Amino acid sequence: MKANIVLLPGDGIGPEVVAEAVQVLDAVAAQFGHEFTYTERLMGGCSIDRHGVALTGEVLADCQAADAVLLGAVGGPKWDDPATKVRPEQGLLGLRKGLGVYANLRPVRVHPDLVNASPLKPEKLGGVDILVIRELTGGLYFGQPKGRSIVDGRERGVDTLEYWDYEIQRVLDLAFRLAASRRKKVTSVDKANVLESSRLWRKIAASTAAAHPEIALDHMLVDTASMRLISSPAAFDVLVTENMFGDILTDEASVLAGSMGLLPSASLGDSGPGLYEPIHGSAPDIAGRGLANPLGTILSAALLLRHSLNLPREAAAIEAAVNDALSAGARSADLGGRSSTTAMTAAVLAHLGAAESV
Ligand code: IPM
Ligand code: MG
Repeated sequence: MKANIVLLPGDGIGPEVVAEAVQVLDAVAAQFGHEFTYTERLMGGCSIDRHGVALTGEVLADCQAADAVLLGAVGGPKWDDPATKVRPEQGLLGLRKGLGVYANLRPVRVHPDLVNASPLKPEKLGGVDILVIRELTGGLYFGQPKGRSIVDGRERGVDTLEYWDYEIQRVLDLAFRLAASRRKKVTSVDKANVLESSRLWRKIAASTAAAHPEIALDHMLVDTASMRLISSPAAFDVLVTENMFGDILTDEASVLAGSMGLLPSASLGDSGPGLYEPIHGSAPDIAGRGLANPLGTILSAALLLRHSLNLPREAAAIEAAVNDALSAGARSADLGGRSSTTAMTAAVLAHLGAAESV
């Protein structure tokens, strides 16, 4: 198969981890007989420096025309001034909206050898395998009106939490579809005791469940969910929720895996390319020092193969190689070890090659 992948390395450690993931994609291409070509573009703070905006129309068009987009991370102290009108994060949000990727999949699994890397008691972590599906193009991030104004001498800031029925329906449909090939349990997280948008969400979740009798649906309030993710994480299978709740809960859930540096994500729409990125940020404090953990981006490349290129065997080969590398003791600084960024990739590549010979 031939595929054109747009790379958006971004800022901070983004370029380092994307370069590692490309090495793994190239190794898979050689091993399984595929041809991947890459188009590298600016997005985020680096694009602000060059073009004055975080995402140009040309770059968005290149992404829309690609088979898939692999992103590193955006942002950093250089572009953090709260008074500024252009921010790196605008590029990310513009890309999500421009690609129509309304469902953000964030799988959280715990490698048995890493239970000690998590601050939770090891006995809580056995069997943790959660797929968080975060709605990505609606809710507080995009609702209108939004903005700041001076009213009668006082300053006012407004964000709007708005959802249309179809926006909720499509992400719930995906949650139920993906639950069918897992443990057949969906937890729909909302704040229906307070928010109108959540009451609409809950109604649509209930009617979707009625059409999927083989799937068990639980409704859970977001405050309860944030507690249960820590007190009984193994009880979750698919967790589906609105944009901002999902943002917060996935940072929390990443602690279960031992490090944010391990977690990948896939953002999918109904058609067009998917967007793949690790869930960690640009980590400017360690940028350029060869310390970043590339596994979240490498696992994002695996999701890219599975969801955008329909290459499940190749995706599974990468995931197995990452598991084996961790089992063999590869540990970057975030995991309490001394393996460099390139050493982590080398460990994955070694196990990828080993898989081929058996
Ligand atoms: C994430 C990030 C982004 C978000 C930021 C950088 C805008 O936190 O992908 O989780 O809030 O969506
Ligand atoms: Mg976040």
